[in-house]
Amino acid sequence: MRRGIYPGSFDPMTKGHLDLIERASKLVDHLIVAVLINPNKTNGLLSIPERMAILKEATMHLPNVEIDYFSGLLVEYAILKEAQVIIRGLRSISDFDMEQNMAQINKQLNSELETLFLITAPEYACISSSSVRELVRFKGDYDWMVPEVALKTIKNIKVEG
Ligand code: PNS
Repeated sequence: MRRGIYPGSFDPMTKGHLDLIERASKLVDHLIVAVLINPNKTNGLLSIPERMAILKEATMHLPNVEIDYFSGLLVEYAILKEAQVIIRGLRSISDFDMEQNMAQINKQLNSELETLFLITAPEYACISSSSVRELVRFKGDYDWMVPEVALKTIKNIKVEG
C-alpha cells in the first residue's frame, strides 16, 4: 500500500492546497495531510484544531485522505505513519529553492523517503496562506483564495485595528 504525506502549516488552508490534495489523493492509496505544530510560530491566524477542522470538512469527499498533525521532524513522522512519499506543491522558482533544500535534507535524513512535487495549477499560483493572513489583518478580500468551508472560521476571527 502506497502511503503519502502532504505536510504543511495550513494557516489557513487555501484553494491551492485543496487542489493539491485532490490531485495527490489519486497518486497514493492513502494520503495523510499533516499539520505541523511549530512552537516557534506563535502569531498564527488559526489554532491547530481550527486548521484541522477546515481540512477535514474540505476533504470529506476524499475517502482515502486522513487529517493529522505532527511536531518534530517530518522524516520521523513519516516512519511512524509508514509513508514512502512526501508530497509538496511548487508555485514558483522561489518555492523551488526552498523545497529543493528541504527535500535534500529529508533525503539525507532518510534515504528511503521520496519527495514528489506537484506543480500548482496556474489559477492558484498567486495564492498563499501568508497572503490570506495579510488580507485578513488588513480587511482585504480573500474569499476567492480559500475553500468555502474555511470562510466561517476565518470570518469569526477578531482582527485588531
Ligand atoms: O506549509 P509550510 O509552512 O511551507 O510547511 C513546511 C513544512 C511543515 C513542510 C516543514 O517546515 C517541515 O517539514 N517541518 C518539520 C521539521 C523538519 O522535518 N525539518 C527538516 C527539513 S528542513
